[in-house]
Amino acid sequence: MYEVYGKRGEMDEQILQYKDLYERLAAYGKSDYYPFHMPGHKRAALNFANPYQIDITEIEAFDSLYYAEDLLRDSQKRLQKIYNSKRSYYLINGSTGGILSAIGASIKTGDEIIIARNCHKSVYNAVKLFQLKTHYIYPQFMECGIQGKIVPEQLEDVLKEHKNIKLVVITSPTYDGIVSDIKKIADIAHRYDATLIVDEAHGAHFSLSSYFPESSVSLGADLVIHSLHKTLPSFTQTAALHVAGDRADILGLEEMMSIFQSSSPSYLLMAGIDRCIGIIERSGKQLFDKYEENLKRFYEIGKNLKHLHVLTEKDYEAYDVPAVDHGKILIRTCHPKVNGVQLYDLLLNKYHLQMEMSSAQYVLAMTSIMDTQEGFDRLFWALLEIDRDLELTSDLLEVCDDYRNKSQLGKFLERVYEKREKVMEISDTEHYNIEETLLQSSVGKISAEYIYLYPPGVPMIVPGETISDHLIEVIGKCRNLGLHLQGLRDRQCQKILTVASI
Ligand SMILES: Cc1ncc(COP(=O)(O)O)c(C=O)c1O
Repeated sequence: MYEVYGKRGEMDEQILQYKDLYERLAAYGKSDYYPFHMPGHKRAALNFANPYQIDITEIEAFDSLYYAEDLLRDSQKRLQKIYNSKRSYYLINGSTGGILSAIGASIKTGDEIIIARNCHKSVYNAVKLFQLKTHYIYPQFMECGIQGKIVPEQLEDVLKEHKNIKLVVITSPTYDGIVSDIKKIADIAHRYDATLIVDEAHGAHFSLSSYFPESSVSLGADLVIHSLHKTLPSFTQTAALHVAGDRADILGLEEMMSIFQSSSPSYLLMAGIDRCIGIIERSGKQLFDKYEENLKRFYEIGKNLKHLHVLTEKDYEAYDVPAVDHGKILIRTCHPKVNGVQLYDLLLNKYHLQMEMSSAQYVLAMTSIMDTQEGFDRLFWALLEIDRDLELTSDLLEVCDDYRNKSQLGKFLERVYEKREKVMEISDTEHYNIEETLLQSSVGKISAEYIYLYPPGVPMIVPGETISDHLIEVIGKCRNLGLHLQGLRDRQCQKILTVASI
């Protein structure tokens, strides 16, 4: 195995010495750790007042988020103008609050809906809360288990078969930056009289520059949700909900947003969105031009790597992907002795470069207009050095089983979905007695829990589905690879809650 400098997640003693949260954050903020992760402001020293001085509640002269008539109405109108939407709303509970609100306003309790299986957990939570009947469509599986686009024809097949579907919810771009054909998907959904919600949480920068894909807002989606904090200079938790079509129930939507968000929306967060809008209005063009230049240079230099590989559109050619987000840099390891988790650790521990996530075979670096040229340079010099070290040692090494497993993980996961068997709806499991079962002895039982790899949090099984022997095998493989399994109440992932009897 390639030697990793330090342990997993190890950080400098200089930072770890601080035992309270604020002190540790402050020390981290001053350190040389570089953020290739969200939030998109990248800890830049943007001009912002002392937070205590401007942290207020809804007092005179400062408007009110849920009854916006003045400052906040005008600011949201500027957001609307930037994205060319019919209406745009600030969200201060992240895209999570926006997704719950958008779904809640588009259905009646118990309705039938189609969701992409790779939807975020907030979509599954809405399914449970509103007792919805689900039909799934599946993203394509690509290189290294990367989940790809939604195939529009698959959506049409489900809509043809089930005549009562009111709503379609998909994620585009995916966590890895893969975009679906929204125009086609919207046309199909509307032909069958269904509303289309696009979770574009990772695409708030779309349409702001021609180097990035077009936003679903202008491609026919009815409601679109953006996490501003993921890819733009805005505080964590800030997001936006855009009304893009004519199908939205505006009053219902506004009611839902006041249910799923705090009744004391933070003025710091709202001022942060306002500043973000201001940055885009005033300096968006220059910042996006510079960003494009940095990315293009990075991808060009990335071509020189031998044992690591920076993925580009070319790698997805076989899958006919409509577009990819160049801001998501995926670095794949092609070397048998270093896996994605080790590459992630190496970049963190030796080079102080914090990636957004590691998968079995690749790491993901999230970038934004706030990344500096120095940041990009640090990443590619680190990659060049790692690549060179791998070159020097490669002859001595043997391909291990671990590596073969990694290459096959995508196929294994795909088969989990093929073998999926739904017995009841997610919310129906609540009507039965639940028991705890050892995972190893749970084959054939009905799960009352989710199991997913985090990130990105796409469930391999959801409540109401039968546990297959193949799923248990895949869980074992993921564990051996050091990937993070979540969803089970048992943090050790030894036991699962199952339906006792039906
Ligand atoms: C695809 C997707 N949708 C929605 C969300 C929720 O976003 P937020 O953190 O803004 O609530 C996430 C979070 O990571 C996500 O990856």
